[in-house]
Formats: sequence, C-alpha cells, structure tokens
Amino acid sequence: MSDGGPAVRRLSDWDREHLLSLADEFGSPLYVTDLRRVRENCLRLREAFPEAHVSYAVKAHTGQAVLETVRDAGLDAECASAGEVERALDAGFPGDRLRYTAVNPPAADLDHVVDRWEANPEMTVTVGAEDTIDRLADRGFDGRLCLRANPGVGAGHHEKVTTGGHAKFGIPIDRVPSIAERVRDDFDLVGVHAHAGSGISGDDLSAHRELVRRMGDLARAIDGLEFVDVGGGFGVPYHDDEPPLDLAAVADATREALGDTDAQLAIEPGRYVVADAGVLLSAVNTVKEVPETTVVGIDAGMTTLLRPAMYDAYHAISNLSRPDAEAVSTIVAGPVCETSDVFAEDRAVARPERGDVLAIGNAGAYGYEMASTYNSRPRPPEVVLDDDGARVARRRETLDDITTLERTASEQLPN
Ligand code: LLP
Repeated sequence: MSDGGPAVRRLSDWDREHLLSLADEFGSPLYVTDLRRVRENCLRLREAFPEAHVSYAVKAHTGQAVLETVRDAGLDAECASAGEVERALDAGFPGDRLRYTAVNPPAADLDHVVDRWEANPEMTVTVGAEDTIDRLADRGFDGRLCLRANPGVGAGHHEKVTTGGHAKFGIPIDRVPSIAERVRDDFDLVGVHAHAGSGISGDDLSAHRELVRRMGDLARAIDGLEFVDVGGGFGVPYHDDEPPLDLAAVADATREALGDTDAQLAIEPGRYVVADAGVLLSAVNTVKEVPETTVVGIDAGMTTLLRPAMYDAYHAISNLSRPDAEAVSTIVAGPVCETSDVFAEDRAVARPERGDVLAIGNAGAYGYEMASTYNSRPRPPEVVLDDDGARVARRRETLDDITTLERTASEQLPN
C-alpha cells in the first residue's frame, strides 16, 4: 500500500503562499480541503487496521469530492440520515459499501432509506431502539440489520459529543442478545455496533478500551455475526503541542480488548479522515485595541465554524499575511452579536492588520457541515486541492439562495 503520509498535518505545514493566493482568488471566508491529505488519512487507517472493516462517518464532511476520494481510497460509508445515504449513493458507493445508522429516525428518513434499500439490498441498517426494528418491518424491510448497543460507557472531547452510555443511544447492552434471537428469523442479522463518542484521545482511551471489551463479550454471546463495529471517535491533535494518536498502538489495544471473535472488527471514524485536510481562511475586518487586549474581528464567525462556540473547541490560528510580525495577545472574534462568536481568547497572533488573511486549522471535520445561515449570512465556498490543482467544489452561497425559500413558499404542498 502507498505512503499514508505523516501522522498529522499541522497548520504550519500548509503552503502559506498558496493559501494566500486562494483567498485572493476566491475571496473569504473560504474553506480549503486537500483531497491528497484525505487520501493519506484513509490509507493510514487501513494500514493500522488491515483486518478490519473501515467506514467513513460521512457526517464529518459530506462534500462529494471528499466522498469520492474516500470511496476510491477503499473506505465504506457510514451515514446518519436519508440525506447522507443519498449523497453517498451519488458519490458512487454501492449498496454493499453503505451503512445507515438510525438514531431516532424520522419517518421520512425510514421511508427514503427503505426505498433505496430495495434497489441496493446489500445496504446495512443499524438500529438503536427496538421499535425502530418494528418501524422498518412495517415498511417491508427484511435486509441486513445491525443492533446498536448502549455499552454503558462513553468518551469524547466534550460532554455534548459523548454518546456511549447516554440513554439516547442504543439498546441497553444486556438486552441485545435476546433481541438478536427475536429478530433473527425476520432479518439478516449481521452485526452489533456501539460508538463511545467523538474526539477520543489521552485519558479517554481507557474508556474506549472498556467499550471494546464489552462489545467483544457481546459479539461472543451472539452466534453468526459478520462484524462487531466499535464506532468512530479517533481524536486528532487540535493543539500544536499535542501529539497525534499512535494509530498502531490504538489498533493493538483495540484488538486486545476485543479478544477472539469470529465477527470481523469494524470501525467508522469521521473526524480522523478529514480534520487536518481542511483549513478555513478568513480576512481581518477590524482591529480594535482595548486596554486589556487586541480584538481582531474577522469575516468568519460561528455561522462558518461552529465548534468553538458550541464545544469551546480549540483551533490553531495563524496570520498568513504577516509571518514575521511580532505576536500579540488577541481575541479573535466573528461578526455575530453573541459572546459565543469568538474563535479564541488570549491567543498570540502575529500582530494582525485590517485585510490580513488568517488561517484556522483542522477545519475539515464538522466545519462546513455545521455552518448555518444565521444572521442571513451566506455560507462560504469550498475549494478542493488535488494533484491537478485547485477547483471550487461548492460555490459561495448567495443571499438569493437563502431567500428563495420564502419567494417560492407558495409552491409548498400541504404535508
Ligand atoms: N459513528 C457514529 C455512530 C457517530 O455518531 C459518529 C459521530 C461517528 C461514528 C464519527 O465520530 P468521529 O470519528 O468523527 O469522532 N460535531 C462534533 C462531533 C459530533 C460527532 C457525532 N457522531 C464536533 O465537531 O466535535
């Protein structure tokens, strides 16, 4: 297999001049995604887990260019909604490389997915509640079914993304074997699944190992399973001084915790595949000196990259326009009138001036995906980089795109 590249790509590893030229050409804010890095991340995962079934949790970044890259790199697609299933099919994932994980699924999602399953009967559907099984049966589904367990243990970079152990997710693990027996005759029971949470690293790794251990016990209690899926959650280093995950060590620990099973190990990382493949470029609008700090107002905000506002997430920030300027302590803030619309407080940035272009690192995962049009602010474009150069993968949204839903409101049929 070819070179999976370095274990991490830091913000300083990006080509500064190239990013500046992209901001100049396409304007700001601007998401930049390097498909070559997506490919490397996929390869490193496959190399670390050669015996496992590896899917990409597409929710981290559903752009078609990313999905096609991941498909070509040999990962399958794990989808969280009918829309994601549709996008994965559009990107050329065949049914046997598609999984749909139903979390409290709306009726319309089940209708849509069952319809697509009819044409793609090798698709797998994962359910986290007994009545979801009945709702699927009501729609005629009798295909490949996976049971999501609640393993009673979770982990993650923030309580808002710690799923394992939360009552919302999965069937209590001790009930899964009897449900497996009940559904066997009516469905093709192929797997069990659990997901600890997102952004797991450091101390969380032992909680993750406990989850894997419990899933190994579960897999041994149910005959004839094809796979045991221990979810995603592989953390990436957002801080520059944070070491990257040692994937080989994580893989070894996972195997050891799982123990011997006839079922194949499956994993479904999202963040790990795309986080360091993306940066967000944003121009400085305003520089305001106040007694305690320098407030740097930029043209990206919580509407562009929600993670700092939602999870107090740290993203590296660098002033591309002034690599040699002296660093000053800053608050880097967006244009939204909310205190949460702040990317960083007390952050050293090379003394910014109006018009400078800042780069915000590790924006490839849950960046564009969680962008919104709050404040009637159109979402930015995305440029993708590959061996053959740069191209616009999503154009900039316009105000017209946003208001069209009102102008065409009379076309809405009653539900
Ligand atoms: N599998 C399932 C069932 C999931 O719910 C998720 C993520 C994943 C896999 C992939 O997890 P990952 O490898 O990306 O950590 N918006 C948050 C993250 C939410 C993750 C939700 N589920 C953030 O920006 O940190």
